[in-house]
Amino acid sequence: MSQHPFAVGGPALAQRRNLVTEIPGPASRQLLERRQRSVARGLSHVLPIFVTAAGGGVLIDADGNSLIDFGSGIAVTTVGNSAEAVVTRITEQVAQFTHTCFMVVPYEGYVEVCEELNRVTPGAHDKRSALFNSGAEAIENAVKIARHATGRPAVVVFDHAYHGRTNLTMAMTAKNMPYKDGFGPFAGEIYRAPMAYPFRWPGGPARCAADALGVVRDLVHAQVGEHNVAAVVIEPVQGEGGFIVPPPGFLPGLADYCREHRIVFIADEIQSGFCRTGDWFACDHEGVVPDLVATAKGIAGGLPLAAVTGRAEIMDSVHAGGLGGTFGGNPIACAAALGAIETMTKEDLPAAARRIGDIMLPRLRAMAQHHPVICDVRGRGAMIAIELVKPGTIEPDATVAAKVAKACHAAGVIVLTCGTYGNVLRFLPPLVISADLLDEGLSVLEDTFSQV
Ligand SMILES: Cc1ncc(COP(=O)(O)O)c(C=O)c1O
Repeated sequence: MSQHPFAVGGPALAQRRNLVTEIPGPASRQLLERRQRSVARGLSHVLPIFVTAAGGGVLIDADGNSLIDFGSGIAVTTVGNSAEAVVTRITEQVAQFTHTCFMVVPYEGYVEVCEELNRVTPGAHDKRSALFNSGAEAIENAVKIARHATGRPAVVVFDHAYHGRTNLTMAMTAKNMPYKDGFGPFAGEIYRAPMAYPFRWPGGPARCAADALGVVRDLVHAQVGEHNVAAVVIEPVQGEGGFIVPPPGFLPGLADYCREHRIVFIADEIQSGFCRTGDWFACDHEGVVPDLVATAKGIAGGLPLAAVTGRAEIMDSVHAGGLGGTFGGNPIACAAALGAIETMTKEDLPAAARRIGDIMLPRLRAMAQHHPVICDVRGRGAMIAIELVKPGTIEPDATVAAKVAKACHAAGVIVLTCGTYGNVLRFLPPLVISADLLDEGLSVLEDTFSQV
């Protein structure tokens, strides 16, 4: 039984940073001891405080501390925790029915979510959607569908990619530790190309888009054969790999290349989608229309839901019964998604994400002027990061990133790290965070840089 049965979260929570104990406090430490005895070690925590309520831009822990949330549970609570429309719709749905399995007996909520996905994802063409439980499952299914539609085996992915932790998605993910180490053998027919990473491109950022496209063409031609490639899978802004924004022209060029060779272009918008980057999807910034889009995370206000949405002829190439799963598109998760999408539309959350970026980017750039350890400030909308290096070099400095993150946590601001080299601090505030709280979180970050 919870020690805090009556804690209530949501937007009505006081929007302030307020520490009443050290972080983590005694109640969290006690829960952590129970956690160590009962939960597998392989699951780790960014910060071991135990949450009792959350909403807007704050998390409340078991000791009564109120922390500013710059993580959104890794880009999930885009509409805020326990957002009003999400809670209302879930509550109604829970009272009606909790599960039938869409493959046994269908229900309207599932269809409605698919209609919404077909509407909001890039492109005005005829689309179909299918719902799943997690981002990794969506990627697995997107690849299944592309292989089935094309009759081809190969899949092209990129350096720094993150697509999940299942066997196929581990193979597609680039980074060994902690995601892949000791978990092989991995699925076959995955080919990796260099990512168009402007900051680290050997010929410099100006040459990055054209060079990187050339490398993809050469690599596929020489090592795979275009006619063997079912799909190219890319995060339009890379997430775990370091919030890498490809240079203008790279994504449109890749989409053209795929069209030329009848390769299915799959956008993994699991982290970048649903208003996060200041548009509904990151592909929208350059008018790129993928054949298939994988979504999850921000889609349902925190409930587990994922989707593949794409061209009707590709999606419907799969025979009846070829896709599915017991829980995929659970009615409560669908109700939550409808509440989340309603909130994103009514409150114009793409504009909210752009406002967040407009506040964060100049402040972070100013910090970079004073702290040469910050070598790159990048991102779109409310998906922003700073990359840290040993000053005067491009040598990644993961130690300083970890130190800054730890100091922010101790001061009551939840920030996350990422990057292949662990040297990137990423910021993913809920899009409903107030400007005051955002400013305060940035001031804490600034102070922290002066200390480490
Ligand atoms: C871009 C991207 N793809 C796939 C995944 C995997 O999603 P999940 O953790 O829901 O399986 C993630 C999760 O972080 C992600 O960021």
